[in-house]
Amino acid sequence: MSRKLIWLAAAAAVLGSATAEAQVTKSPPVDAEQVLRVPSVNYRTEWVQLGTFSVLAEKPQDGAKELHAVYTERKNVEAYLNDGKFPDGAVFVKDLWNAKTEALPTGTASFAGDLIGRFVMVKDAAGKLGSGARFGDGWGWAFFLGNETVKTVTGDYKVDCLSCHEPVRKQDLQFLQGYPILRK
Ligand code: HEC
Repeated sequence: MSRKLIWLAAAAAVLGSATAEAQVTKSPPVDAEQVLRVPSVNYRTEWVQLGTFSVLAEKPQDGAKELHAVYTERKNVEAYLNDGKFPDGAVFVKDLWNAKTEALPTGTASFAGDLIGRFVMVKDAAGKLGSGARFGDGWGWAFFLGNETVKTVTGDYKVDCLSCHEPVRKQDLQFLQGYPILRK
């Protein structure tokens, strides 16, 4: 598959509908700013998993279509529990997994298959970590296809990210309801 097709497939998978797809610029891959790149540390073993979202298949009885797992460093969790907000520089990685579903002894169970891509948000309330179209509203924003860690297909976060995150603006644009370890 060509890069563009892979991106279109991923965009369709991410957005799940033709209308939502129109929000994506489908920018050609460019080097992301250093602070926005997928961290080189093994965040899945070294960081804290905040939570997982399961996005159901069109027919819910088929299980999940995707699983989304969100990670950040432990110190950010501690800061949040103390201050009620994340410090500047706090990085969040969301793994986007294609889900597999099997009849297991527990029931119809979905689990992670292939990696579709990764979303990165970095807290930048002071607006000092970067400038340009991937920075704004207190954050830096980028998406990376598959195992890519440097080249992002995000052009302008206002087009590619913001409308979906707008409903949780009161939570600083994050879906905190999915992160039980942040609850007191
Ligand atoms: C189709 C709507 C949609 C788009 C487009 C979208 N997001 Fe999200 N994002 C969500 C939802 C919903 C969640 C939490 C639930 C989930 O993953 O199913 C989320 C969660 C995240 C998280 C985990 C932290 C948090 O906010 O809770 C990161 C990081 C993230 N998105 C980054 C991005 C970036 C960067 C972009 C743009 C390149 C983007 N998102 C575009 C809907 C979207």
